[in-house]
Amino acid sequence: MEQESLIRHKIVVLNAKGGSGKTTVATGLASWFSTRGLPTALMDHDPLNLSIRWLSKRPEEAAHIHGVAATCVSQRMTRAYQMRIPRDTRIIIVDTPAAIPRQSLFEYIRDADVILCPVGPSELDIYSASLFVEDLLKVASSHHREGRIGLIANRVRKGTIAYRNLKTFLERQPFPLVSTLRDSQNYLHCADAGLGLHELEGRDIRADRKAWNDLSDWLAVRCGFPGPPLKAVKIRRRRTPAKNVDKAAKPPSLYVVPQGKA
Ligand SMILES: Nc1ncnc2c1ncn2[C@@H]1O[C@H](COP(=O)(O)OP(=O)(O)OP(=O)(O)O)[C@@H](O)[C@H]1O
Ligand SMILES: [Mg+2]
Repeated sequence: MEQESLIRHKIVVLNAKGGSGKTTVATGLASWFSTRGLPTALMDHDPLNLSIRWLSKRPEEAAHIHGVAATCVSQRMTRAYQMRIPRDTRIIIVDTPAAIPRQSLFEYIRDADVILCPVGPSELDIYSASLFVEDLLKVASSHHREGRIGLIANRVRKGTIAYRNLKTFLERQPFPLVSTLRDSQNYLHCADAGLGLHELEGRDIRADRKAWNDLSDWLAVRCGFPGPPLKAVKIRRRRTPAKNVDKAAKPPSLYVVPQGKA
């Protein structure tokens, strides 16, 4: 039982194509696990730090997520100290930048339990994904053998030709299609509020809920992630952001950004 509580699960969200939905999936998953009472860390390897920016907007009363801006350089701390995560962390979500060179891919995935690749619906997204899948097959062959790579169709509008093409493409890939995220304004609200889909108040999320349940089920059944909620976390009404929080993009000055205090 004690050993079980020490198990950590690491998810790396990857796709060389910019704008495919990596940050949306990474922040959504961080919200998903943290609101289920699982100590969660979100590591942002993108120099733009948009996951960390999302975290900086997260209301203080929302479930805590520990943020690490992995690309920031500090003269005052060692790298290991800057990259540290709390001892009780159970889930580590890694957001990655676009256009990772093939030779650097292994660095990102070597200790990943699961690799998730969101893919957008345009022809460019599909073409880029076809190249990326080839790279992943070479670099992440053991993850592939163990069934630990999942594809996510993102920004889909059902009933469109683009969706049909994306679905056809994804279903032919060597990795399973584990979830399908609609093109939904809800994700823009999530990005703006530092919240996950299930934490949004006053918005209709019914049509989007299934995608996250599907993803969670796959992670639980295929990859042994904690599935059922461990602790119901009540989301309270959003606090008005503090006056001194600048909502414009600003990279954090430290590696470790306390939630709600970028
Ligand atoms: N399912 C969705 N519905 C609506 N908007 C979405 C959806 N997924 C992503 N977006 C929006 O698309 C934009 C790009 O998404 P996101 O930042 O998650 O992609 P990314 O892969 O992290 O991009 P980058 O490679 O630049 O880091 C963002 O504005 C995001 O809010
Ligand atoms: Mg991103």
